[in-house]
Formats: sequence, structure tokens, C-alpha cells
Amino acid sequence: MIKRRIPSIKDIFSQIGSPNRNQSALERKLSYCADIWDIRALAKKKVPPLVFDYTDGAAGCELSLKRSRDAYARVEFMPKVLRDVSQIDLSVDILGTKSALPYCFAPTGFTRMMHYMGEFAVSNAAKEFNLIYVLSTLGTISIEDLANHAPDLRKWFQLYVSKEKEKNEALLSKAEENGYEAVILTVDTPVGGIRNRDIRNGLTIPPQINLKALLQITLYPKWWFNLITTDSLEFATLKSSKGTVSDLLSSVFDSTVSFDDLKILREMWNKKLIVKGVQSIEDAKKIADLGVDAIIISNHGGRQLDKANVPLEVLPDIVNAVRDKIEVYVDGGIMTGSDIVTALAFGARAVFLGRAYLYGIMAGGEAGVKRVINILNKEITTTMQLIGASSINELHPEMVKLRKS
Ligand code: GLV
Repeated sequence: MIKRRIPSIKDIFSQIGSPNRNQSALERKLSYCADIWDIRALAKKKVPPLVFDYTDGAAGCELSLKRSRDAYARVEFMPKVLRDVSQIDLSVDILGTKSALPYCFAPTGFTRMMHYMGEFAVSNAAKEFNLIYVLSTLGTISIEDLANHAPDLRKWFQLYVSKEKEKNEALLSKAEENGYEAVILTVDTPVGGIRNRDIRNGLTIPPQINLKALLQITLYPKWWFNLITTDSLEFATLKSSKGTVSDLLSSVFDSTVSFDDLKILREMWNKKLIVKGVQSIEDAKKIADLGVDAIIISNHGGRQLDKANVPLEVLPDIVNAVRDKIEVYVDGGIMTGSDIVTALAFGARAVFLGRAYLYGIMAGGEAGVKRVINILNKEITTTMQLIGASSINELHPEMVKLRKS
């Protein structure tokens, strides 16, 4: 028989944990975020809706993004048991150099709009964890500023081909002079995708504050104060015309870009060259034959063509077709460490993350990005332990399958 007792006040209070006094309120909030979805929820509270929507949203009815995420939700692991998984090695070799983690930070536009420390905050976190960080042509700090800020970071530069040919050459020279180890050419943007949330919110570049936006922004005074007391928000390598990001992509970028331009770029740029936005086996093979070093299977996070094919679903066949010639990476819809493990098991050399770290920076600047990395690392490690793989090399397609629905 279990005997009951009358609890004392001390018994009750001793069960309430005392807050860690060395933690700031932000650190505490971040520490209660269990996954990237929680970080996303915190981000939503920290920035005006038009900023959140620019990041969170995609093109059209957002089916490309939804389907990319749904594909990861259909994954079923086939774990192996009785393996020693006490030590897990997450390192991979990316273009000949060891990377401590199997993911990289993708190029993203407008990063200082999400948090005033923008690319500086992201690069600090990337440096601390030895991640590759890709600065975008739509970045809000310059090629030189990032290089000066983070000389030891593994930096790549992402190029959108501009209609002004001298502009492309100037950007490549700057990337070369400033020690960027690779260039990513993005090829899924002959024109801008139709981003309905940006149209509805009236989000233009540079930001034009209409009454609705002004009313929204007054509810986020800290974000607003940081924005107006730091360098004005503009693209560091582009002078933009008025319009949404999609209008900007259409007006500035060259929709005539073809395989011939890729050949020319390959001749001009002697370091590593990666093509981002590949979505078919045919294109992957043609690109591999042009002496490119790697491709990223990507539909631009669903921000360009709506109802595009799903990166995870095309990944295995593309890997089989070109793995002997080039490295294959994938992005789009990745929200958990187990999504990363899945992509690696299906043959990706590494994955690229965009929204995940942007939710982090919106939620809490540099600390938010670091929290995202810590959450993902824990999730990757635990997933690997539970499926019986102690290094990335041990991940194989037979450990995963995609359920029909
Ligand atoms: C920029 O690349 C964007 O997708 O907004």
C-alpha cells in the first residue's frame, strides 16, 4: 500500500526550477525552442508580417514549398540495430575540404531586413561552427565587407547573371580578390517568380512605407529602431529599381542566359564553380559535362516556379546520373536534422539551408542562428544514432524510403 502525506510548502517550491540568472530573456526563449518550427514561431513575433512573409513565403499558391516539405514528411527510416553509435562523426568533404557539418548556409536576399546585424550575424555563427556561408548577389553587405569581417570563414559568392556584362565581371573579380573559394551560379531565375505575399503586403525594394506597413511596423519598435539607426537597407552589389523582389529579378537579371554563358563563366572563373537550380537529369548531365564542380538540386525554395518538381524526389536519379563527375547538393523544405539525414542517405553530398537560419536570425540575431545550428546538430546526431550510422559515409539509400502518401 502507498501511504499519502501532506506536502510542505518547501516540497512544492523545491520542484520549481529557478531560471538561469546568467541567461538573457532572449536566450531563455531560444532555449525553450525545441525545433525549427518553434524558432519560426518566435521569429513571427519579432518582425513585421511583411518581413516574415518575404522569408516564409514562396511563389504562387506555394505548392512547390509545401510539396518539398511534404516529401520529407513521407520519409520512413529503416534503422539498423546493434551498431556502436557512441561516437558520431558529422563531417563531410565538400569540394576537397573537410567541413565539420554536412550542411551549408545558402545565399539569401535582404538579410539585414530580417535583423539589423544581417550577414554579419549569420557569418559569425557560421564561423563558430565551421560552416560554409554563401553571400548572395542580393546580399545587404558587400563582398569586401564580409571578407574583412570574416577573413577565415569558408565563403562562397552566389552570382545572378546581370544584363550588364561588366557588372558580372566586376563581381567575379571582387570575389576572387577577396578570397571567396567558390562561385555559385543561380540558374532558376530567368525572371522573378510571382510572390503573392509580397504583392499583398506591398513589399518593395527599396522598402516604400505605405500606411498599412507603417501601422504594422509601429508594433515592432525594436526592429524598426534598429532598421532606421543602421546603414540604409539596400542591396550592396545592385542598385535596385522600384518594385517587388520579383520585379527586381526580372528587370536586372538576364533572361537570355544559356549553356553558352555557363561555358564562358567556366573559362573566366578558375576556382570552384557550382550551378544552383538544377531540376532534371538531362540538365544535370549537360552541366556536369561542362566542367562544373557541383550542382545544387533546387527549386529556389519554391520561390520561383510554383508546382515545380520536388528536390528530394529527383535527388536519387540525378545522383546516379552524375555522381562520378560532380558533387550533388540539395536544398528546399529542410526543417529538421532528420530531413538532412534523409537527403544525405539519398546521395546528396551536403544540403543547403535558407529559411531555417533566417528564422533563427529573425528570432534572435546571431544567438538565434546559433540555436538553429545546435538544434539541427542534435537532431542529426540523434537520428544517426537511432538508425545505426556513426558517420555520414554509412548513410545509404536502403536506410530510407518515401511512402506514397
Ligand atoms: C532571393 O533570392 C529571393 O528568393 O528572394
